[in-house]
Amino acid sequence: FSLRAFNTFGIEAEARQFVEISSIDQYVALRTSGEYAHLPHLFLGGGSNVLLTQAQEALIVKISIPGISVVKEDADFVWLKGGAGVVWDEFVQYAVNHGWSGLENLSLIPGTVGAAPMQNIGAYGAEIKDTFDSLEALNLQTLAIEVFDAKACAFGYRESFFKRAGKGLYLIGSVTFKLSKKPSVKTSYGAIQEVLATKGITQPSIRDVADAVIEIRKSKLPDPKEIGNSGSFFKNPTVSASEASRLMAEFPGIPNYPVEGSTEVKFPAGWFIEKAGWKGFRRGDAGVHAKQALVLVNYGEATGAEILALSEEIKQSIKDTFGVSLETEVNIL
Ligand code: EPU
Repeated sequence: FSLRAFNTFGIEAEARQFVEISSIDQYVALRTSGEYAHLPHLFLGGGSNVLLTQAQEALIVKISIPGISVVKEDADFVWLKGGAGVVWDEFVQYAVNHGWSGLENLSLIPGTVGAAPMQNIGAYGAEIKDTFDSLEALNLQTLAIEVFDAKACAFGYRESFFKRAGKGLYLIGSVTFKLSKKPSVKTSYGAIQEVLATKGITQPSIRDVADAVIEIRKSKLPDPKEIGNSGSFFKNPTVSASEASRLMAEFPGIPNYPVEGSTEVKFPAGWFIEKAGWKGFRRGDAGVHAKQALVLVNYGEATGAEILALSEEIKQSIKDTFGVSLETEVNIL
Protein backbone atom coordinates (compact mmCIF):
# COMPACT_ATOMS: atom_id res chain seq x y z
CA PHE A 1 0.00 0.00 0.00
CA SER A 2 1.54 3.32 -1.02
CA LEU A 3 1.62 6.10 1.57
CA ARG A 4 2.47 8.79 -0.95
CA ALA A 5 -0.97 10.40 -0.87
CA PHE A 6 -0.96 10.31 2.93
CA ASN A 7 2.08 12.46 3.68
CA THR A 8 2.39 16.10 2.63
CA PHE A 9 6.08 15.60 1.82
CA GLY A 10 4.80 13.42 -1.03
CA ILE A 11 7.36 10.72 -0.23
CA GLU A 12 6.87 7.29 -1.73
CA ALA A 13 6.89 4.64 1.02
CA GLU A 14 5.14 1.33 1.33
CA ALA A 15 2.97 0.36 4.28
CA ARG A 16 2.46 -3.30 4.97
CA GLN A 17 -1.11 -2.69 6.13
CA PHE A 18 -3.38 0.32 6.26
CA VAL A 19 -6.77 0.93 7.84
CA GLU A 20 -8.88 4.03 8.24
CA ILE A 21 -11.04 4.56 11.31
CA SER A 22 -13.94 6.95 11.79
CA SER A 23 -14.53 6.39 15.50
CA ILE A 24 -12.69 5.34 18.65
CA ASP A 25 -15.06 2.37 18.96
CA GLN A 26 -13.97 1.18 15.56
CA TYR A 27 -10.38 1.26 16.71
CA VAL A 28 -11.17 -0.60 19.91
CA ALA A 29 -12.97 -3.29 17.89
CA LEU A 30 -9.92 -3.60 15.69
CA ARG A 31 -7.65 -3.96 18.67
CA THR A 32 -9.75 -6.44 20.60
CA SER A 33 -10.67 -8.81 17.83
CA GLY A 34 -9.55 -9.75 14.42
CA GLU A 35 -6.39 -9.94 12.47
CA TYR A 36 -4.85 -6.62 13.55
CA ALA A 37 -4.92 -7.10 17.30
CA HIS A 38 -1.25 -7.96 17.71
CA LEU A 39 0.39 -5.74 15.13
CA PRO A 40 2.22 -2.63 16.23
CA HIS A 41 0.20 0.45 15.23
CA LEU A 42 1.14 3.83 13.87
CA PHE A 43 -1.44 6.62 13.89
CA LEU A 44 -1.56 9.03 11.02
CA GLY A 45 -3.54 12.27 10.87
CA GLY A 46 -2.98 14.60 7.94
CA GLY A 47 0.57 13.30 7.47
CA SER A 48 1.78 16.88 7.56
CA ASN A 49 4.45 16.53 10.21
CA VAL A 50 6.17 13.30 9.23
CA LEU A 51 9.09 12.28 7.08
CA LEU A 52 8.86 8.69 5.85
CA THR A 53 12.36 7.30 5.44
CA GLN A 54 11.54 3.64 4.94
CA ALA A 55 8.79 1.09 4.34
CA GLN A 56 6.48 0.93 7.36
CA GLU A 57 6.08 -2.42 9.08
CA ALA A 58 3.46 -1.25 11.58
CA LEU A 59 -0.24 -1.15 10.81
CA ILE A 60 -0.94 2.40 9.66
CA VAL A 61 -4.14 3.67 11.24
CA LYS A 62 -5.43 6.73 9.47
CA ILE A 63 -7.57 8.79 11.84
CA SER A 64 -10.69 10.04 10.09
CA ILE A 65 -12.94 10.74 13.08
CA PRO A 66 -15.36 13.46 11.88
CA GLY A 67 -17.58 16.07 13.50
CA ILE A 68 -17.66 19.68 14.62
CA SER A 69 -20.08 20.61 17.40
CA VAL A 70 -20.76 23.19 20.08
CA VAL A 71 -20.69 21.32 23.37
CA LYS A 72 -21.43 24.25 25.65
CA GLU A 73 -21.86 28.01 25.53
CA ASP A 74 -22.48 30.98 27.76
CA ALA A 75 -22.79 34.72 27.18
CA ASP A 76 -19.09 35.12 26.42
CA PHE A 77 -17.70 31.80 25.22
CA VAL A 78 -18.36 28.82 23.00
CA TRP A 79 -16.80 25.41 23.59
CA LEU A 80 -16.23 24.02 20.12
CA LYS A 81 -15.33 20.37 19.73
CA GLY A 82 -13.73 18.80 16.70
CA GLY A 83 -13.25 15.13 15.85
CA ALA A 84 -9.60 14.15 15.56
CA GLY A 85 -9.89 13.61 11.82
CA VAL A 86 -11.34 17.02 10.98
CA VAL A 87 -9.03 19.00 8.75
CA TRP A 88 -7.54 21.69 11.00
CA ASP A 89 -8.20 24.60 8.67
CA GLU A 90 -11.84 23.56 8.17
CA PHE A 91 -12.24 23.70 11.94
CA VAL A 92 -10.58 27.12 12.11
CA GLN A 93 -12.67 28.55 9.29
CA TYR A 94 -15.84 27.15 10.90
CA ALA A 95 -15.01 29.16 14.02
CA VAL A 96 -14.04 32.26 12.08
CA ASN A 97 -17.23 32.14 9.98
CA HIS A 98 -19.30 32.00 13.17
CA GLY A 99 -17.43 34.97 14.61
CA TRP A 100 -15.79 32.99 17.41
CA SER A 101 -12.28 34.16 18.05
CA GLY A 102 -9.12 32.44 19.20
CA LEU A 103 -8.05 30.27 16.27
CA GLU A 104 -7.88 32.79 13.40
CA ASN A 105 -4.09 33.24 13.65
CA LEU A 106 -3.78 29.48 13.11
CA SER A 107 -5.51 29.56 9.73
CA LEU A 108 -4.22 27.33 6.95
CA ILE A 109 -1.89 25.20 9.09
CA PRO A 110 -1.88 21.75 7.45
CA GLY A 111 -2.97 18.73 9.47
CA THR A 112 -5.89 17.61 11.59
CA VAL A 113 -7.62 18.61 14.82
CA GLY A 114 -6.38 15.48 16.60
CA ALA A 115 -2.76 16.13 15.72
CA ALA A 116 -2.83 19.78 16.79
CA PRO A 117 -2.28 19.18 20.53
CA MET A 118 0.56 16.73 19.94
CA GLN A 119 2.97 19.56 19.31
CA ASN A 120 0.89 22.55 20.42
CA ILE A 121 0.75 23.97 16.90
CA GLY A 122 1.38 27.68 16.68
CA ALA A 123 1.88 30.52 14.26
CA TYR A 124 1.64 34.29 13.95
CA GLY A 125 1.40 35.06 17.64
CA ALA A 126 -0.89 32.24 18.78
CA GLU A 127 -0.61 28.65 19.94
CA ILE A 128 -3.44 26.20 20.52
CA LYS A 129 -2.66 26.15 24.24
CA ASP A 130 -4.09 29.70 24.40
CA THR A 131 -7.63 28.49 23.61
CA PHE A 132 -7.41 24.78 24.35
CA ASP A 133 -10.06 23.52 26.78
CA SER A 134 -9.71 19.73 26.86
CA LEU A 135 -9.32 16.60 24.81
CA GLU A 136 -10.57 13.05 24.95
CA ALA A 137 -8.10 10.28 24.33
CA LEU A 138 -8.18 6.53 24.40
CA ASN A 139 -5.67 4.98 26.77
CA LEU A 140 -4.17 2.29 24.57
CA GLN A 141 -3.37 0.03 27.50
CA THR A 142 -6.64 0.16 29.44
CA LEU A 143 -8.82 1.04 26.42
CA ALA A 144 -10.60 3.60 28.63
CA ILE A 145 -11.34 7.17 27.53
CA GLU A 146 -9.45 9.79 29.53
CA VAL A 147 -10.05 13.54 29.55
CA PHE A 148 -7.03 15.84 29.54
CA ASP A 149 -7.11 19.52 30.45
CA ALA A 150 -4.39 21.95 29.39
CA LYS A 151 -2.30 21.26 32.48
CA ALA A 152 -2.33 17.52 31.87
CA CYS A 153 -1.22 18.14 28.28
CA ALA A 154 1.92 19.96 29.55
CA PHE A 155 2.09 22.20 26.50
CA GLY A 156 5.35 23.90 25.60
CA TYR A 157 6.85 25.33 22.42
CA ARG A 158 6.03 22.61 19.85
CA GLU A 159 5.77 20.20 22.79
CA SER A 160 3.22 18.30 24.84
CA PHE A 161 2.81 15.31 27.13
CA PHE A 162 1.91 13.33 24.01
CA LYS A 163 5.38 13.84 22.54
CA ARG A 164 7.10 13.08 25.87
CA ALA A 165 5.89 10.80 28.67
CA GLY A 166 2.65 9.97 26.87
CA LYS A 167 4.26 9.11 23.56
CA GLY A 168 2.60 6.15 21.89
CA LEU A 169 0.23 5.60 24.82
CA TYR A 170 -2.92 7.43 23.66
CA LEU A 171 -5.17 7.92 20.68
CA ILE A 172 -6.66 11.41 20.66
CA GLY A 173 -10.33 11.23 19.62
CA SER A 174 -11.53 14.81 19.88
CA VAL A 175 -10.36 18.23 21.01
CA THR A 176 -12.42 21.07 22.50
CA PHE A 177 -11.49 24.74 22.33
CA LYS A 178 -12.90 27.61 24.36
CA LEU A 179 -13.50 30.41 21.90
CA SER A 180 -14.57 33.97 22.60
CA LYS A 181 -17.83 35.41 21.28
CA LYS A 182 -16.40 38.87 21.82
CA PRO A 183 -14.07 39.63 18.94
CA SER A 184 -10.60 40.04 20.35
CA VAL A 185 -7.83 39.80 17.78
CA LYS A 186 -4.10 39.27 18.12
CA THR A 187 -2.24 41.46 15.67
CA SER A 188 1.13 41.89 17.40
CA TYR A 189 2.94 39.84 14.75
CA GLY A 190 4.72 42.27 12.42
CA ALA A 191 3.66 40.69 9.14
CA ILE A 192 -0.03 40.77 10.17
CA GLN A 193 0.25 44.48 10.91
CA GLU A 194 1.86 45.07 7.54
CA VAL A 195 -0.91 43.29 5.62
CA LEU A 196 -3.65 45.11 7.55
CA ALA A 197 -1.92 48.46 6.99
CA THR A 198 -1.59 47.80 3.26
CA LYS A 199 -5.33 47.17 3.10
CA GLY A 200 -6.05 50.25 5.21
CA ILE A 201 -7.74 48.17 7.94
CA THR A 202 -7.52 49.82 11.36
CA GLN A 203 -10.23 47.87 13.24
CA PRO A 204 -9.60 44.32 12.04
CA SER A 205 -12.31 41.68 12.37
CA ILE A 206 -11.55 38.04 13.07
CA ARG A 207 -12.00 37.40 9.35
CA ASP A 208 -9.51 40.18 8.50
CA VAL A 209 -6.88 38.54 10.72
CA ALA A 210 -7.56 35.09 9.28
CA ASP A 211 -7.27 36.51 5.75
CA ALA A 212 -4.02 38.28 6.60
CA VAL A 213 -2.54 35.06 7.98
CA ILE A 214 -3.68 33.14 4.91
CA GLU A 215 -2.05 35.74 2.68
CA ILE A 216 1.25 35.63 4.61
CA ARG A 217 1.35 31.84 4.63
CA LYS A 218 0.65 31.65 0.91
CA SER A 219 3.44 34.11 0.18
CA LYS A 220 6.09 32.31 2.25
CA LEU A 221 5.21 28.68 2.69
CA PRO A 222 5.04 26.18 -0.15
CA ASP A 223 1.61 24.62 -0.78
CA PRO A 224 2.08 20.86 -0.21
CA LYS A 225 -0.21 20.22 -3.17
CA GLU A 226 2.41 21.85 -5.38
CA ILE A 227 5.72 21.19 -3.60
CA GLY A 228 5.99 18.44 -0.97
CA ASN A 229 6.91 19.67 2.52
CA SER A 230 6.07 19.33 6.21
CA GLY A 231 6.24 22.98 7.23
CA SER A 232 9.11 23.94 9.51
CA PHE A 233 11.53 21.04 9.49
CA PHE A 234 13.43 22.28 12.55
CA LYS A 235 12.41 23.96 15.78
CA ASN A 236 13.62 27.44 16.52
CA PRO A 237 16.49 26.85 18.97
CA THR A 238 16.25 28.14 22.52
CA VAL A 239 19.58 28.93 24.17
CA SER A 240 20.82 30.07 27.59
CA ALA A 241 21.21 33.78 28.38
CA SER A 242 25.00 33.58 28.14
CA GLU A 243 24.91 31.72 24.84
CA ALA A 244 22.44 34.34 23.58
CA SER A 245 24.81 37.18 24.55
CA ARG A 246 27.61 35.48 22.64
CA LEU A 247 25.45 35.15 19.52
CA MET A 248 24.22 38.75 19.70
CA ALA A 249 27.77 40.07 20.14
CA GLU A 250 29.15 37.94 17.34
CA PHE A 251 26.25 38.51 14.94
CA PRO A 252 24.91 42.02 15.49
CA GLY A 253 21.31 42.40 14.34
CA ILE A 254 20.46 38.71 14.74
CA PRO A 255 16.69 38.47 15.34
CA ASN A 256 15.78 37.01 18.73
CA TYR A 257 12.76 36.47 20.94
CA PRO A 258 12.74 36.40 24.74
CA VAL A 259 11.19 33.23 26.16
CA GLU A 260 8.33 33.95 28.57
CA GLY A 261 9.08 33.19 32.20
CA SER A 262 12.73 32.32 31.57
CA THR A 263 16.10 33.94 30.86
CA GLU A 264 16.49 31.80 27.74
CA VAL A 265 16.30 33.31 24.29
CA LYS A 266 14.84 31.82 21.10
CA PHE A 267 16.46 32.43 17.74
CA PRO A 268 14.93 31.82 14.31
CA ALA A 269 16.42 28.68 12.79
CA GLY A 270 15.53 30.09 9.36
CA TRP A 271 17.97 32.95 9.93
CA PHE A 272 20.88 30.59 10.69
CA ILE A 273 20.05 28.40 7.72
CA GLU A 274 19.78 31.36 5.37
CA LYS A 275 23.01 32.96 6.65
CA ALA A 276 24.84 29.65 6.24
CA GLY A 277 23.90 29.78 2.57
CA TRP A 278 21.32 27.01 2.37
CA LYS A 279 18.25 28.98 1.35
CA GLY A 280 17.10 27.81 -2.08
CA PHE A 281 19.68 24.97 -2.09
CA ARG A 282 18.69 21.94 -4.15
CA ARG A 283 20.24 18.51 -4.60
CA GLY A 284 18.26 16.21 -6.84
CA ASP A 285 14.67 16.68 -5.73
CA ALA A 286 15.51 17.52 -2.10
CA GLY A 287 15.85 21.16 -1.23
CA VAL A 288 15.54 24.13 1.08
CA HIS A 289 12.58 26.37 0.25
CA ALA A 290 13.65 29.58 -1.47
CA LYS A 291 11.27 31.81 0.51
CA GLN A 292 11.54 30.24 3.99
CA ALA A 293 14.75 28.44 4.87
CA LEU A 294 13.15 26.52 7.74
CA VAL A 295 11.13 24.45 5.29
CA LEU A 296 12.68 21.49 3.49
CA VAL A 297 10.99 20.50 0.26
CA ASN A 298 10.53 17.55 -2.07
CA TYR A 299 10.41 18.73 -5.68
CA GLY A 300 8.97 15.40 -6.78
CA GLU A 301 10.93 12.21 -6.41
CA ALA A 302 13.14 12.81 -3.38
CA THR A 303 13.32 9.93 -0.93
CA GLY A 304 12.88 10.38 2.79
CA ALA A 305 16.50 9.32 3.23
CA GLU A 306 17.67 12.12 0.92
CA ILE A 307 15.66 14.73 2.81
CA LEU A 308 16.96 13.34 6.10
CA ALA A 309 20.57 13.42 4.86
CA LEU A 310 20.14 17.04 3.77
CA SER A 311 18.71 17.93 7.16
CA GLU A 312 21.70 16.34 8.92
CA GLU A 313 24.09 18.29 6.72
CA ILE A 314 22.28 21.52 7.55
CA LYS A 315 22.40 20.74 11.28
CA GLN A 316 26.14 20.12 11.11
CA SER A 317 26.68 23.30 9.12
CA ILE A 318 24.75 25.41 11.66
CA LYS A 319 26.71 23.78 14.48
CA ASP A 320 30.02 24.54 12.74
CA THR A 321 29.14 28.09 11.71
CA PHE A 322 27.23 29.34 14.75
CA GLY A 323 27.82 26.78 17.51
CA VAL A 324 24.05 26.23 17.67
CA SER A 325 22.32 22.84 17.69
CA LEU A 326 19.13 22.54 15.68
CA GLU A 327 16.47 20.08 16.73
CA THR A 328 14.23 18.35 14.20
CA GLU A 329 10.58 19.33 14.50
CA VAL A 330 9.16 16.79 12.04
CA ASN A 331 8.67 13.17 13.16
CA ILE A 332 11.09 10.87 11.36
CA LEU A 333 9.51 7.50 10.62
N1 EPU B 1 14.27 34.10 8.81
C1 EPU B 1 15.30 34.30 7.94
N2 EPU B 1 15.32 33.56 6.78
C2 EPU B 1 14.37 32.66 6.49
C3 EPU B 1 13.31 32.45 7.40
C4 EPU B 1 13.29 33.18 8.56
O1 EPU B 1 16.19 35.12 8.16
O2 EPU B 1 14.46 32.04 5.43
C5 EPU B 1 14.23 34.90 10.05
C6 EPU B 1 13.74 36.31 9.83
O3 EPU B 1 14.47 37.14 10.68
C7 EPU B 1 12.31 36.28 10.28
C8 EPU B 1 12.37 35.26 11.39
O4 EPU B 1 13.34 34.33 10.96
O5 EPU B 1 11.88 37.52 10.75
C9 EPU B 1 11.06 34.57 11.65
O6 EPU B 1 10.58 33.99 10.46
P1 EPU B 1 9.05 33.57 10.31
O7 EPU B 1 8.18 34.66 10.78
O8 EPU B 1 8.86 33.08 8.92
O9 EPU B 1 8.85 32.41 11.34
P2 EPU B 1 9.77 31.20 11.77
O10 EPU B 1 10.30 31.48 13.13
O11 EPU B 1 10.73 30.86 10.71
C10 EPU B 1 7.81 30.02 13.04
C11 EPU B 1 7.10 28.69 13.05
C12 EPU B 1 6.18 28.54 11.86
C13 EPU B 1 5.17 29.68 11.89
C14 EPU B 1 5.92 31.01 11.89
C15 EPU B 1 5.02 32.19 12.04
C16 EPU B 1 8.59 27.15 14.18
C17 EPU B 1 9.47 25.96 14.07
N3 EPU B 1 8.06 27.61 13.05
O12 EPU B 1 8.66 30.04 11.89
O13 EPU B 1 5.49 27.33 12.00
O14 EPU B 1 4.29 29.62 10.78
O15 EPU B 1 6.84 31.04 13.02
O16 EPU B 1 4.58 32.33 13.34
O17 EPU B 1 8.38 27.64 15.29
C18 EPU B 1 5.58 25.01 11.43
O18 EPU B 1 5.71 24.78 12.63
O19 EPU B 1 5.54 24.08 10.60
C19 EPU B 1 5.50 26.39 10.98
C20 EPU B 1 5.44 26.71 9.68
